[in-house]
Amino acid sequence: MFARTALRAVTRPVTINRTVRLGYATAATSDPSHFSASAVEAMNPRGVEISKAQRIAEDGFISAIGNTPLLRLKKLSEETGCTILGKAEFQNPGGSVKDRAAYYVVKDAEERGLLKPGGTVVEGTAGNTGIGLAHVCRSKGYKLVIFMPNTQSQGKIDLLRLLGAEVYPVPAVAYDNPENYNHQATRYAEAHDNCVWTNQFDNIANRQAHIETTGPEIWAQTNGEIDAFTCASGTAGTIAGVTRYLKTVSEGRVQCYVADPPGSVIFGYVSSHGKELGERKGSSITEGIGQGRITANLQPDVELLDGALKIEDAKSIEMVYRCLDEEGLYLGASSCLNVAAARDLAVKLGPGKTIVTILCDGAYRYADRLFSKKWLHEKGLWEAVPERLRSYAVLD
Ligand SMILES: Cc1ncc(COP(=O)(O)O)c(C=O)c1O
Repeated sequence: MFARTALRAVTRPVTINRTVRLGYATAATSDPSHFSASAVEAMNPRGVEISKAQRIAEDGFISAIGNTPLLRLKKLSEETGCTILGKAEFQNPGGSVKDRAAYYVVKDAEERGLLKPGGTVVEGTAGNTGIGLAHVCRSKGYKLVIFMPNTQSQGKIDLLRLLGAEVYPVPAVAYDNPENYNHQATRYAEAHDNCVWTNQFDNIANRQAHIETTGPEIWAQTNGEIDAFTCASGTAGTIAGVTRYLKTVSEGRVQCYVADPPGSVIFGYVSSHGKELGERKGSSITEGIGQGRITANLQPDVELLDGALKIEDAKSIEMVYRCLDEEGLYLGASSCLNVAAARDLAVKLGPGKTIVTILCDGAYRYADRLFSKKWLHEKGLWEAVPERLRSYAVLD
């Protein structure tokens, strides 16, 4: 749709598909060569194989980020005649896709000399980025300070505090008000030594995480046999970084679509070929996605997108229940919006295609809403749950 911009070379070797055959050694002799091949086979009757990525994670939490499985969504694949694959980002050690961005913004601050041992990281967030940062900061010995709107639930505040963060709930005011939580985070960082505001929305180290890890993993896992990619945009680090990598490595062949919930301006902006940045109208039950502006993470890659898909909340909710019932996957609403977008894209592109999307996080933090009859009725979404699956809504 947009004129193609020159694609920079962003590839790097990925090693995830190389498998290593393991023999078992005892504590007395850790040298596997001590055993004959047949003895090893006898002790390893199931022929356990591990990928290089599954070896010991030397840096603990940090090295456990990424290299997530790519799951074939069986029912939706059968239904559409396509291969629909979901990247299991809920398997990251902090529980979401945002672990990747959290690690990269901290790493970037260290590399630029802005963060030294014992320093402080500041961010404005109420969601998964805060959780990812809390884990990364603990594992690296940094203090974490979080500013968030005081409309957020006590549960979110408690979770970040129990992960060691200092949390400041501040008045929920618009971005152009100096008291907005993002501006308070900036001022805090400016007022303290060895302290950095990681600025997830406009810090392109976020997008770089997906150029260097998520994109190459998807390419390696599909052996380059991927036709299309779709996911929603919050900061846009994921959609922009993966799109940039896949467009580069496939020389423009892989089609990339941004998925958008109601109340976000991205769909209108991309569909109008970048001419209209409409106003935010409506709202969505999804969390962590949807946007009122084009972030610095999205800006450089917006021209690479082939289009946008609008996904209503009813479709995302239907998919929450279908993924659980049909695939055994307990996923949050943004993941299910992505799966609904992958299904729509499969219908649009026709049978035989391989389509990849992102399973951002699990439903654990959202269960009191997504599986509550009362909440679903209040939001007008009860009818969106397929009748045969309503028994999963076990909460009143
Ligand atoms: C649950 C969830 N899904 C999706 C996203 C969007 O990811 P990105 O910020 O890379 O656009 C986020 C971001 O915070 C999130 O928390």
